[in-house]
Amino acid sequence: MTVATIMGCGAQKGIVDGDVVRVIKGYKTTINLLPKIKIEAVVPDESVEDIILKIQEKCSSDHVGDGKIFIHNIEEAIRIRTGERGDKAL
Ligand SMILES: Nc1ncnc2c1ncn2[C@@H]1O[C@H](COP(=O)(O)OP(=O)(O)OP(=O)(O)O)[C@@H](O)[C@H]1O
Ligand SMILES: [Mg+2]
Repeated sequence: MTVATIMGCGAQKGIVDGDVVRVIKGYKTTINLLPKIKIEAVVPDESVEDIILKIQEKCSSDHVGDGKIFIHNIEEAIRIRTGERGDKAL
């Protein structure tokens, strides 16, 4: 997997305690970016639903900001060392 620290916001626009109005480069904005962790994992298709359920089970606090899962297709994976491709390269 790959883990990165990033800045982000969701539907609450990063506002945590009431209205936060900031002036960025002369523009008033209410968007506030919060530090988050982004995890990327390329997995076999058949594991996707199990992983979604496990993340929901472990990460859901029932509060805003729990995070989001985005699913997208990967065209190909190649392990450079061996030349293995597809699921064998994961
Ligand atoms: N539509 C989006 N596009 C890109 N990144 C997003 C999007 N929605 C959320 N994120 C990322 O996910 C992080 C967590 O989002 P968050 O869980 O607050 O989503 P939400 O839609 O506000 O849901 P909730 O109402 O449960 O808080 C954000 O800080 C941002 O990095
Ligand atoms: Mg949110």
